[in-house]
Amino acid sequence: MIFYFSGTGNSRWVAQELADLTGDTAVSIADIVKSGSCPEIAQGQPIGIVFPVYAWLPPEIVSDFAANLPADTGSYRWAVCTCGDEAGRAMDSLTEKLRLSSAWSLQMPNNYILSFNTDPAETVRAKVKGAKQRLPRIAQDILDKKEVWDVHAGSFAGLKSSLIGPAFNRFARSDRSFHAEASCTGCGLCQEVCPADNIELRNGKPVWLGGCLKCLACIHRCPERAIEYGKATRGKGRYYFSDKLLD
Ligand SMILES: Cc1cc2nc3c(=O)[nH]c(=O)nc-3n(C[C@H](O)[C@H](O)[C@H](O)COP(=O)(O)O)c2cc1C
Ligand code: SF4
Ligand code: SF4
Repeated sequence: MIFYFSGTGNSRWVAQELADLTGDTAVSIADIVKSGSCPEIAQGQPIGIVFPVYAWLPPEIVSDFAANLPADTGSYRWAVCTCGDEAGRAMDSLTEKLRLSSAWSLQMPNNYILSFNTDPAETVRAKVKGAKQRLPRIAQDILDKKEVWDVHAGSFAGLKSSLIGPAFNRFARSDRSFHAEASCTGCGLCQEVCPADNIELRNGKPVWLGGCLKCLACIHRCPERAIEYGKATRGKGRYYFSDKLLD
């Protein structure tokens, strides 16, 4: 069983590709959390987790989910994280919650536009192409239950994951700066794509409810580009994974 979390589609695509290549099933962690029901995991069944790196750590929803999976059944457990650049010690943090046999990081297009910008179009394509080329090898290692630790931690990884990561979860998860501009048509897509059910449409405009995961799906998916985060996202690109990037 492959459990994934994804805001802007990178990790969903990776999870689905790996499911196709290994004959497994990809299941959304957000859907499990919303429904309160997790598919049964048989004794010894391999478990995979695919997630985006947030501030050099796994998203809290992923860590909490992993911590609640059945205790070690001797099964093969692996994880793949997607990140714009570097994973820090995200996998070391995850393996403390759920003992991992193997871990990989994959560079994918950056979606963090609160401080940075989206990648240029050619970088987006190059990252997706590079990931697509690596996935069959990763899938084969998973099928062979190989023990691999192929994670690009990057510079000052320990410091970033132990200081900035927890600070992000504690102080930077507020959704108070999200707002919709006049160009919002009230289509409701932001509400639909929010994995945390954190958006409600009131009088045809989105309202953020205070339970944000900071996945940025809402801001990237809005077809009118009507959502901004304070002034931090003005004039910046928007990104969402699309199969067209594979052409
Ligand atoms: C809140 C947040 C924090 C992020 N932090 C990092 C980071 O520490 N390192 C990094 O390389 N990319 C970081 N990114 C970029 C994402 O990890 C990357 O774009 C990922 O592939 C997005 O996956 P998704 O499309 O499945 O949501 C961050 C993105 C968000 C939204
Ligand atoms: S997706 Fe954009 S246009 Fe549609 S309701 Fe949300 S903010 Fe408005
Ligand atoms: S409100 Fe936006 S950023 Fe927050 S969890 Fe929902 S989609 Fe993600």
